[in-house]
Amino acid sequence: MSRKPLLEVRNLSLSFAPAHDQVLHGISFSLEEGEILGICGESGSGKSVSALSLMNLLPETACKEGEIYLRGEALHKLSEKQWQGIRGDEIGMVFQNAQTALNPTKRIGKQVEECLIIQAPKMNKEDRQKKVLELLESLDLPQVETLVRAYPHELSGGMKQRVGLAMAIINEPEI
Ligand SMILES: Nc1ncnc2c1ncn2[C@@H]1O[C@H](COP(=O)(O)OP(=O)(O)O)[C@@H](O)[C@H]1O
Ligand SMILES: [Mg+2]
Repeated sequence: MSRKPLLEVRNLSLSFAPAHDQVLHGISFSLEEGEILGICGESGSGKSVSALSLMNLLPETACKEGEIYLRGEALHKLSEKQWQGIRGDEIGMVFQNAQTALNPTKRIGKQVEECLIIQAPKMNKEDRQKKVLELLESLDLPQVETLVRAYPHELSGGMKQRVGLAMAIINEPEI
């Protein structure tokens, strides 16, 4: 019995309306469990849009073709509602700009906790908050009890980046 790769991207092509210049020209790659895959290329070559494709987070002007499989499940066929079960739960992402990735109007703890509320709705509040504190602490953030009550603008760039990391991994995604 052949085992399916954790992630498989086949012939992914992308353009944006209205110009429709081709941005991705049928790229294919796969990822096995435990494997680290790096994608490199010059600025504007399509690294970010490739990653965003894997989360179905491209803007509506995007025209995407190709196939994406997660352990054989065809992600390219999912509805937006179904994607919500994948994003954060199966595939996590640390966004490039920690400043814009965080909501400036919400306290740090609440934002990290929200990731758990979405993917683990049955977990009780006490357990959720404990998990948030433990995770932030494990990422070497200082004084986490105070930190969770802070707003993003009160944190340094590096701290915000680690909060973004916490949000990406709190549900222990496979990718
Ligand atoms: N929302 C968008 N609308 C139109 N073109 C876009 C959009 N996002 C990215 N692009 C274009 O797609 C190409 C790849 O961009 P990007 O993935 O950000 O490159 P990289 O991350 O490798 O620097 C660029 O030519 C960029 O201008
Ligand atoms: Mg980029």
